[in-house]
Amino acid sequence: MPKTTTEVLPANAGGIARAAQLLREGGLVAFPTETVYGLGADARNGEAVARIFEAKGRPRFNPLIVHLDDAAQARKIALFNDTAERLARAFWPGPLTLVLPLRPGAGLSALVSAGLETVALRVPEHPLAQALLKEFAGPVAAPSANVSGRISPTRAEHVLEGLGGRLEAVLDGGPCAVGLESTIIGLAPGPVLLRPGGLPVEVIEDCLGMPLGRGKEGAKPSAPGQLASHYAPQAAMRLNAEAAAPGELLLGFGEMACDLNLSPSGDLVEAAANLFHHLRQLDALGAGKIAVAPIPERGLGRAINDRLRRAAAPRPAS
Ligand code: TXA
Ligand code: MG
Repeated sequence: MPKTTTEVLPANAGGIARAAQLLREGGLVAFPTETVYGLGADARNGEAVARIFEAKGRPRFNPLIVHLDDAAQARKIALFNDTAERLARAFWPGPLTLVLPLRPGAGLSALVSAGLETVALRVPEHPLAQALLKEFAGPVAAPSANVSGRISPTRAEHVLEGLGGRLEAVLDGGPCAVGLESTIIGLAPGPVLLRPGGLPVEVIEDCLGMPLGRGKEGAKPSAPGQLASHYAPQAAMRLNAEAAAPGELLLGFGEMACDLNLSPSGDLVEAAANLFHHLRQLDALGAGKIAVAPIPERGLGRAINDRLRRAAAPRPAS
């Protein structure tokens, strides 16, 4: 595809105004959310949305998450049942995506929802994402701003490494606080967990007072990593490793000898925020193989383990 110059926009009023202008012109603008950086386009502009898939090199048209500045805007696009209302009130803005029935005549490009009758909506909390969405005053479709199948970006530099020259601008907000993609709940009708993520499942189940169903892996429509291999670093991965074997670099958790540690104190929130950046750093060190210490399967540990299992899954030939 033709190369464009990617502007790096500062986290101030000028940067936000320029980012909104580029979106209005049908451009692609990466922006920070509290989870990961998104690759944004005007969700009503089919050509702009198509360019997202082209830039990411996505093998097919996965449906995208639409970002809004508040729940009132979201209600214009989708139909909320009582459960959806409750979750939106409790957790928006925040790292939660709801898959809801699309409201007829909502005006989105059909490519956004890949022709489905449902749509994934999210109200992010990050102040820059909020400011951009308010300034743009419309729905922004945004998948994570990485090349398809690679590690999601948690810093503006990561976006430029993967997609530089393929988007008009990146709004630089520094590192993302959560560091894992949003949790996706299906509510058509649901509630089912479609992807564990930055909001722990236990917290959602507490709010609803009931266990969540589990979305069937491989069922359509899918959350990411229907492609089993996803979020992959260059290096091969070995999970639940107590120590490094010869030729491996060890990604640790908790107090231990290792090459990089997700959280020396064993804090799952800190580990989530570090996960993607640490995997990139180990790649940059030329690790042929990355061994990863066991991560407890609770709270954000579920989402971390989900991403690690996908990173370790057999890769499609490319
Ligand atoms: O934290 C996040 O969620 C980030 C930031 C940028 O918001 N976004 C993100 O987008 O992770 P993406 O495209 O990498 O993952 C969104 C996933 C897609 O893989 C898709 O399968 C699922 O959401 N999805 C979107 N629309 C859906 C729908 N109508 N039904 C089921 N799943 C859907
Ligand atoms: Mg993604």
